[in-house]
Amino acid sequence: MAFVRVAALSQLPEGGALGVEAAGRRIAVARVDGEVYAFADNCSHRDFPLSHGEVDAAARTITCEWHGAAFCLLTGEPTCAPAFRPIAIYPAKVEDGAVWVEIADEPAPAEKAGGLRSLGI
Ligand code: FES
Repeated sequence: MAFVRVAALSQLPEGGALGVEAAGRRIAVARVDGEVYAFADNCSHRDFPLSHGEVDAAARTITCEWHGAAFCLLTGEPTCAPAFRPIAIYPAKVEDGAVWVEIADEPAPAEKAGGLRSLGI
């Protein structure tokens, strides 16, 4: 397990999200009040890129652009329907002007549990 540089901090605007590929996974990073959060770039409802969604800084959530499910940036848990499964989250940090994400060799629990697959709802 190691931190991987995924983007320059300048690529990630305050209050925004960015989709990246790292270690063979689609990962989204979001920036809120100077903090960075990393999570699977797959909505657990229908596998849509969450990086296209809208970040709510006050609630610390990201809302999927397709059907409106929202996920907590801290826990990955859905906060409203139509998603019911969590998304994987990853430790993230800012260092040397870049965003770094810690990616385990093994898939995260939400990935193993099929949380990134469509429910077909
Ligand atoms: S694909 Fe995200 S809410 Fe449906």
